Amino acid sequence: MTLRAARESDEPGLVRMLERVSRAGRSQRFFGATDTARAARQLATVAAGDLGLVAQSDRCGLVAHGALYRTGDGQAEVAFLVREDWQGRGAGALLLSHLAEAAAQAAIDVLVATVRYDNRAMISVFEHSGLPMELRYAPDSLHITLSTAADAAIALAA
Ligand SMILES: CC(C)(COP(=O)(O)OP(=O)(O)OC[C@H]1O[C@@H](n2cnc3c(N)ncnc32)[C@H](O)[C@@H]1OP(=O)(O)O)[C@@H](O)C(=O)NCCC(=O)NCCS
Repeated sequence: MTLRAARESDEPGLVRMLERVSRAGRSQRFFGATDTARAARQLATVAAGDLGLVAQSDRCGLVAHGALYRTGDGQAEVAFLVREDWQGRGAGALLLSHLAEAAAQAAIDVLVATVRYDNRAMISVFEHSGLPMELRYAPDSLHITLSTAADAAIALAA
C-alpha cells in the first residue's frame, strides 16, 4: 500500500472504492446519505491549502482516503474513509500520521474531527496516534481536538 496526493483523475477509482464501503460506513464519513458519484467528486477535489491523500494497492486500486481541510488560522479538520475489506490493517493510522506531519509543516497546530460516539475505530486511531488529544461531548457526536507533532515535541522538551 502506498500513499500519494489525491487528484481529480482519481474520481473513477474513488467511485470503485466507495462501492466497497457500506452505507453505514459512508454515513460515518459524510454524516448523511451520500451517493457514491457525489462523494467521489468531493474526495477527489482538493481546494487550495487543503490536502487529500489516497492509499493505493497494486492489486485493489484505491483503498483509503484521508483529508485535511483548513478551517481557520492554524487549524484544520481531518476526515478518513477506508474500504471495508481493508479496515483494521493500519491504513487509517498511516493516513493520520502523514496528515499530522503535513499539518505541522504548514503551521497547522490543531486538527479537529467530529465523530459519532459509537465510532470506536476512528476514536482508536486518534488515541493510538500519540498526538495530544482532547474530547468534547456534543449531543449526538464527539468533537476531537489533536495537537500536531510539533506541539508534542515542544511539550516534551519543556
Ligand atoms: C475509522 C477508519 C478510518 C479507521 O481506519 P482503519 O484503517 O480501519 O484503522 P487502522 O487499521 O489504522 O486501525 C487503527 C486502530 O483502530 C482499531 N480498529 C480498527 N477497526 C476497528 C473497529 N471496527 N472497531 C474497533 N477498533 C478498530 C485497530 O484495531 C487499531 O487499534 P490498535 O492500534 O489498538 O491496533 C475506518 O474504520 C473507516 O473508514 N470507517 C468508516 C468511515 C469513518 O468512520 N470515518 C471517520 C469519520 S471522519
